Amino acid sequence: MTNKKIKYAPVSPEVEEIAAGHGHNPEALLEILKEIQTHPAGLSKAALTDAAHTLKVPPHKAYGLATFYSMLTLEERRNVLRVCDGPVCWLKRATSKNGGPAWSSEVSDQWSVERSSCLGLCDRAPAILVNDEQAGPVTAQDARKACQGWRGVPTDYSRPRAGEVRVMSALIGRIDPDSIDDAIANDVYGGLKSALLKKPGEVIAEVEASGLQGRGGAGFPVGRKWKFVAAEERTPRCIVCNADESEPLIFKDRVLIETNPHQLLEGIIIAGYACSASEAWIYIRGEYESQARRLENAIRQAESKNLLGENILGSGFSFRIHVHRGAGAYICGEETALLESLEGKRGEPRLRPPYPPSYGFRGMPTAVNNVESFCAVPHILKNGAGWWKSLSPYSTPGTKMYMVLGHVKNPGLFEAPFGLTLRQIIDDFGGGMQTGSNFQFALCGGAAGTVVDESLLDIPIDFASSQKGISLGAGAFLICDRSVSPVAFLRELLHFFAVESCGKCTPCRVGTWRSLEILDRMANGLGLNGDTDELKTLAALMQDSSFCGLGQSVPIPMRSALSHFEAEFARSESPMETRS
Ligand SMILES: Cc1cc2nc3c(=O)[nH]c(=O)nc-3n(C[C@H](O)[C@H](O)[C@H](O)COP(=O)(O)O)c2cc1C
Ligand code: SF4
Ligand code: FES
Repeated sequence: MTNKKIKYAPVSPEVEEIAAGHGHNPEALLEILKEIQTHPAGLSKAALTDAAHTLKVPPHKAYGLATFYSMLTLEERRNVLRVCDGPVCWLKRATSKNGGPAWSSEVSDQWSVERSSCLGLCDRAPAILVNDEQAGPVTAQDARKACQGWRGVPTDYSRPRAGEVRVMSALIGRIDPDSIDDAIANDVYGGLKSALLKKPGEVIAEVEASGLQGRGGAGFPVGRKWKFVAAEERTPRCIVCNADESEPLIFKDRVLIETNPHQLLEGIIIAGYACSASEAWIYIRGEYESQARRLENAIRQAESKNLLGENILGSGFSFRIHVHRGAGAYICGEETALLESLEGKRGEPRLRPPYPPSYGFRGMPTAVNNVESFCAVPHILKNGAGWWKSLSPYSTPGTKMYMVLGHVKNPGLFEAPFGLTLRQIIDDFGGGMQTGSNFQFALCGGAAGTVVDESLLDIPIDFASSQKGISLGAGAFLICDRSVSPVAFLRELLHFFAVESCGKCTPCRVGTWRSLEILDRMANGLGLNGDTDELKTLAALMQDSSFCGLGQSVPIPMRSALSHFEAEFARSESPMETRS
């Protein structure tokens, strides 16, 4: 066997400069590739090899990233329009009276048009991304205007709805989110000052006593997680904020960040102090570029006021926060996939245990929490666990950010205590069904939540109500009237999961696409006898043998839709054609 030494051509100066800007850190590979892509020559195979070479990582690793994340491409292009085909945008387009022209025929050849999974702009549906700028509502008729700078109409949540209890959203529209002086004048960072007067263990005890449960979907107690991290003897420990928010229907974290970024930083700093951690990373989805910039600006401002950095407010506690952008992959919201991505790899989930509190980012003890979880923390430290509990007349303490979408009169975001019923969400907060619309079903929790019919309209919803058939998840509710086919709707959900499956394990990789194929033909009037049973078999298979929470939760909307709308699915099967 010959042992030939590989000789690389010199690295291009452009790639070298970008890599140097990131300190030649291999963990920054994803961000480096994204940056290379913004240059006129784009992300060519040669540039990819150069990046790998200068970071001293194998070229296949760089290629692996370029082919994993949807915002990276090896194709040559200048400008890109990413058109969301998530379920909320689908619903808007399906119900709009004028389907209009196709996107690509509307734009010049300077632009390429790509599909995208949910952009986290469901309250601005139908939504698009114009390069890295968010826009909506935008239809294909508006494509030319969008290429020339038109961005639709941003949402405005400055006025509370009747019945709202605003805590985390209290300062929306009342402060300039880019001004730390405004934030401080409104007592943001007051919770941090209270926390620094306590010992770290006392901070954790306060959060535990408040009963705060994680807002990313699973509802794990925040104080208990921090206790696990603080109990680890290994240092350094770290905090990771999950701002990936890529599940269709969910956009609350985006609004919390864009309206009050200092509240989030405050919660993260308190978590760092409680766990005696030294650094934090905010992993924010690549499609939230303006929110990422807002966070970077807020970090600089907090450092300038000694609320971050060395010896914070003379407490002896030092802490840094970094912002890390993703590049388009729903699976990176799963905490272990997120950690892999943060380490500069493909976002493929890790086997658990070990869990992140004992083995997280770079193997460090790590607390991973959702944006909303961190945003609740300062208020608990400022006002006490008892006050947080008193906000809710229901057994689950505190308030929650909810999203209501679809065929209601007043879709959007609101904050309220737990225990709301779907009827209250629709009538009291969503303004009721749109004129001429009659409720048929709702998707509850998020894309991986339950599809419910009117029989569940009066069940109080919390983290445990999924046992009664109605999920809270991350707090989103998509309301559909009788114009929507449950079969076609489930097809849209499966399309999302099939595209976003990371492909690491067979049950999910194959199961999602097989289910999509079946639903595709059922939705198009070509269903075969036995298709419904095959969907049930695939759901059981994915639930029992998928590697991570993505594949394990795809069966939730499948099974609930199949059980509530058995007749509709049966009607989509042809009695003449039998599966071979
Ligand atoms: C497929 C998948 C996607 C997820 N996406 C998110 C997400 O976007 N944001 C989030 O906070 N948690 C998400 N989670 C949950 C995280 O794995 C983790 O439980 C959460 O960040 C913990 O924070 P919390 O305890 O504060 O809720 C996802 C889980 C799965 C299985
Ligand atoms: S369940 Fe799906 S997303 Fe999770 S590891 Fe398997 S293929 Fe990847
Ligand atoms: S932005 Fe289109 S479905 Fe969420």
